Amino acid sequence: MTPDRPGDRPAVKAPMPAGHPGGRLDGRLVGLGVCGSIAAYKAVELVRLLRAEGAEVVVMLTPAAAQFVGPLTFAALSGHAVETDVLGLLPDQRIGHIVVADAADAIVVAPATARWLGAMANGIASDTVVAACLATAAPVVFAPAMDGDMWTHPATQSNVGRLERDFGYRMVPPQIGSLASGQSGIGRLAELPLIVDALVAAVEGRPVRQPDAAARPPRTPAVRDADLEGSHVVVSAGGTAEPIDPVRFIGNRSTGRMGVAIAEAALARGARVTIVAGRVEVALPAGARVVHAESTAAMRNAVIGAVIDQPADALVMAAAVADFRPRAAATTKLTRDGSLTLDLEPTEDILAETAALARALDPAVRPILVAFAAETGSLERAPDKLRRKGADLLVANDVSEPGSGFGTDTNRVSILAADGSREDLPLLTKREVADRLLDRVAAAMDERDALAHTGGTTTEAHR
Ligand code: CTP
Repeated sequence: MTPDRPGDRPAVKAPMPAGHPGGRLDGRLVGLGVCGSIAAYKAVELVRLLRAEGAEVVVMLTPAAAQFVGPLTFAALSGHAVETDVLGLLPDQRIGHIVVADAADAIVVAPATARWLGAMANGIASDTVVAACLATAAPVVFAPAMDGDMWTHPATQSNVGRLERDFGYRMVPPQIGSLASGQSGIGRLAELPLIVDALVAAVEGRPVRQPDAAARPPRTPAVRDADLEGSHVVVSAGGTAEPIDPVRFIGNRSTGRMGVAIAEAALARGARVTIVAGRVEVALPAGARVVHAESTAAMRNAVIGAVIDQPADALVMAAAVADFRPRAAATTKLTRDGSLTLDLEPTEDILAETAALARALDPAVRPILVAFAAETGSLERAPDKLRRKGADLLVANDVSEPGSGFGTDTNRVSILAADGSREDLPLLTKREVADRLLDRVAAAMDERDALAHTGGTTTEAHR
């Protein structure tokens, strides 16, 4: 039995969500341009409101804005690196403001200063906010904030007119109230909900411009608690290979990317990780114990050894396992004389067998079991597969969908639980999918540990 549970793992703290599903900007990417006005501090709250509506937000600061509010504040709240430099490159060498321009569903400039209005009206790309607006085909919303006399100056008014009339930008006009100068007048930044409403109206009826997470600006990995510390997580990764003869095998297209992403995420969250590796095309993380197991029979022994004998707190069966294998592999290389008929027999169902063994364990030490189901066309078989496998969670995806198949860095999955619930995740990087899945695994472990103390039965795991 593991020496370090139950109750040794720290309590799970909810990580910052990517955006709140069900909001009016669900799945949208918003570029938020902030200019150098005292009202820049209100843009911090605007990030929070946009995220609460479900948007992913990338902040762009003019140099003056960065003097009012530092990029760190915006980076922490948005989960994205902040664009401050018109010449700035992303870690993968793409040009930051161009990626925002190409992927954003809308750009909102709030507060927009008199200087910025002048630069924008004349197409002077001296800062990253103007540059992104020039480069985008997405709608632009701007909310001016400045001193009252600056606002009423004909230069400012003519620039605003140009933006609205010639560029089709939508303005959220400034309001009357007390200004930074101590005077009262027109020039206060509009109330933030009005800016959010204008943005919602600007994108309404338009499809999401860039649903592919890999083509969007990269999210900074959320800093997560070591919520798997003290636990042992076993992940199977890659595809199995069933020998036909000494040189040929029956294999599949799995590359191991998803399993490796889960192993890396589990390591980052403090777990001890065993990878049971079939054929993989990606590097395996250094911190994990690796057991190589190419055939289904070898993988079965390795999984049962790691999960039941060791034992483990969780098994994530991300490997693509063969359902059939040649009844007898030829001992010498088959030649091309005549035709060839392969006599196939079913392989052992590793997950179902592990689930049966796990059911015999004390509920306090039962591993959380996660199945994967790569389907084509529809996920309607997924609930039945979850029951058939005896798993607690099943991660289903449609591999025929763009960005969701083998060999990609992204995946769109649904997580089904044994209690009948289903969570549909947006297109995410495989690392983000891994962390969202491990959130569920950690919660299920906590539930198991808590119920082990009280002697009840779990709801995630109807066993
Ligand atoms: N799996 C397993 N042993 C097998 C086949 C699959 O442990 N012999 C695991 C996979 O790793 C995956 C889950 O079971 O986590 C579902 O795999 P899938 O191939 O989708 O399911 P099958 O049982 O093969 O069902 P079907 O062929 O009807 O889709």
